[in-house]
Amino acid sequence: MRKLLKGKMILFLMMALMLILSACSSSGTGGESGSSSSSGEASSGASSGDDGASDKLVIGFSQVGAESEFRTANTKSIQDAIKDAGHELKFSDAQQKQENQIKALRSFIAQKVDAIVFSPVVETGFETVLQEAKDAGIPVFLGDRAVDIEDDSLWVTFLGSDFVEEGRKAANWLIEETADIDGDINIVELQGTVGSAPAIDRKKGFEEVIADHENLKIIKSQTGDFTRAKGKEVMEAFLKSDGENIDVLYAHNDDMAIGAIQAIEEYGLKPGEDIKIIGVDAVRGAFEAMAAGKMNVTIECNPLFGPQMVDLIEAHFAGEEIPKRVDVEESMYTMDQAEELLPTREY
Ligand code: AHR
Repeated sequence: MRKLLKGKMILFLMMALMLILSACSSSGTGGESGSSSSSGEASSGASSGDDGASDKLVIGFSQVGAESEFRTANTKSIQDAIKDAGHELKFSDAQQKQENQIKALRSFIAQKVDAIVFSPVVETGFETVLQEAKDAGIPVFLGDRAVDIEDDSLWVTFLGSDFVEEGRKAANWLIEETADIDGDINIVELQGTVGSAPAIDRKKGFEEVIADHENLKIIKSQTGDFTRAKGKEVMEAFLKSDGENIDVLYAHNDDMAIGAIQAIEEYGLKPGEDIKIIGVDAVRGAFEAMAAGKMNVTIECNPLFGPQMVDLIEAHFAGEEIPKRVDVEESMYTMDQAEELLPTREY
């Protein structure tokens, strides 16, 4: 009898041990960190387990550069959001050069990151490398700037601003502002980086709206590459050739507008009065210029979408369908609002 009881006890202990072992091994499968990978599908992600959305991911972030206040704020927003969500970040600053971005993307692919956040410096020329990412099963999330590529299965989604609409807003402000003025209004335009989505689209939106107003004339248009230094340099050249004839400056971003303001002052004219200044981004520097009466309006282009980007990436890995385009909501601010709003600006 004692022998029988001892045998039953051993059998019971062995069964309990087997149960514990099998429970341990099944929880290990779902909890592997940073190993999620996508099926390469364009709009929905493959989770690495039941709790895929909460897995730690390795995310490569290829940023345009550090050319403007917008860009610095955008970099910080995305970097912080990735880290705050507990994911691992691999970061690359392309210094506004496409070849650097292609290298960075290839390096992320070689390192087998789980996802790529990509803000392309220009719209074209990325097909091959994006195809390589797709072939490697790495989903790409476009942030801020779009690409001009037919095959939209090469990225999961685009999160950013409607740049055409920003150009339209700038033109509509100008039409209202100059409604009582008879005669021609001469505009000089500082374009963003040649071939970039914001430069192409902001020009397009602006021109589309002023097309019906014959008195609004763009007399000079040149790139200032989105930087203060270049904005100043090009404005100096505009002033040299057309000085007293310039009524309005339309700058594709605030940094170039701020550089141009300096050039206008050095030339001996009053920015904001003698020459109306329109910028884009709504950065703190623009609010300071507006509060000082040197700039008239800025169209908001909000760079603080890092948390929204991380939500989209996690939703993709959780297998959720996400829209192909997600617009960031934006406003427009004029000189008379600047002093009150300046202390509240986050970037
Ligand atoms: O892509 C957005 C644009 O890029 C911002 O308006 C500009 O400041 C930046 O450099």
